[in-house]
Amino acid sequence: MSNALVQIDSLRIDVKVTRTRRLTIVNSATFDVEPGQLLGLIGESGSGKTMLCRSLVGTLYRRGAYIQSGSLTFGGTDLVNASPKDWRDIRGKRIGYIPQSALAGPNPVMTIGAQMAEAIKQGEKMDNSYVRARALELLEIVQIRRPEIVLKQYPYELSGGMKQRVMIACAIAREPQLIVADEPTTGLDVTVQAEIMELLRQIRRDLNTSIILVSHDLPLINEVCDDIVIMHAGATVEKIPSEQIEKTRHPYTQALYNSRIDLVEPRGKLITINGQPPTVGDWPTGCRFAARCDYAQPQCSADVEIPLATVGTKHVSACIRQAEIWGK
Ligand SMILES: Nc1ncnc2c1ncn2[C@@H]1O[C@H](COP(=O)(O)OP(=O)(O)OP(=O)(O)O)[C@@H](O)[C@H]1O
Ligand SMILES: [Mg+2]
Repeated sequence: MSNALVQIDSLRIDVKVTRTRRLTIVNSATFDVEPGQLLGLIGESGSGKTMLCRSLVGTLYRRGAYIQSGSLTFGGTDLVNASPKDWRDIRGKRIGYIPQSALAGPNPVMTIGAQMAEAIKQGEKMDNSYVRARALELLEIVQIRRPEIVLKQYPYELSGGMKQRVMIACAIAREPQLIVADEPTTGLDVTVQAEIMELLRQIRRDLNTSIILVSHDLPLINEVCDDIVIMHAGATVEKIPSEQIEKTRHPYTQALYNSRIDLVEPRGKLITINGQPPTVGDWPTGCRFAARCDYAQPQCSADVEIPLATVGTKHVSACIRQAEIWGK
């Protein structure tokens, strides 16, 4: 028996586009999250990262989406068939969520204090003095100076980095076992980005929280995370420990790695990935990266899904030629 906190297996998410038309936006997402693990989730825009995050907090319906098949469990609870009561116990309490574009929020017409009170209470009745003390304590944990003043402020009065710290404070308000952070540093400058990453690492260390950290930025994810899940066109194509990224066994990960912008050691010409990701709803059969892949062979495009195969401890890859691309 695995002791994973989250288990995602062959998850498929569809969206209702019109009354009769359905579109598959995530297909074959498969990975686990261990207790206390900092897991990076990476992939191009449209690969399904946000939808996967939403499935973990039960808010797919707000985008007209739903889990079509596969399994998703959190701490032994089946989230595919979770009841409203299960979600009340989990969302915001056992799973904290930092939504993408949280920098545009938090809610502009509520003070930081009022928003934090909602995050702390989660719909429960609580003593006001307790809520205020807890809000101050949380702002101190996320290293916000002069917390008494910040509680009275509106989001527009805070910098991007400060807003993100408040979002993190809200996400950890109920000491969740898991935080889902959807691109928490996109739009922040590199110095603030590094501070936010350090804060997330510290929270993981101090509270032993598992964190799923979503990003487009492979070097960033590689530096801060224990393991990386790579998504391409709605599918998990590889899961690999960060320290082994140079030994990737998937051509898409390899292309992402080779196209990274190395600020410390510029390597000359910038390498880009061939072509465009396949359009959602128009995925080819077999491997969805085949049309862009230097290793592709006719059998990559056969009408069968390419399964995730074990490469080593904690390393899986969905490439039929994975054995040939090691270290290239
Ligand atoms: N309501 C909807 N109707 C149609 N398509 C949708 C709907 N919601 C999401 N999609 C599509 O689903 C795909 C996955 O979206 P998702 O937001 O999960 O991508 P992402 O990996 O988070 O991208 P990004 O990196 O840009 O945030 C996208 O192609 C998106 O256009
Ligand atoms: Mg997204």
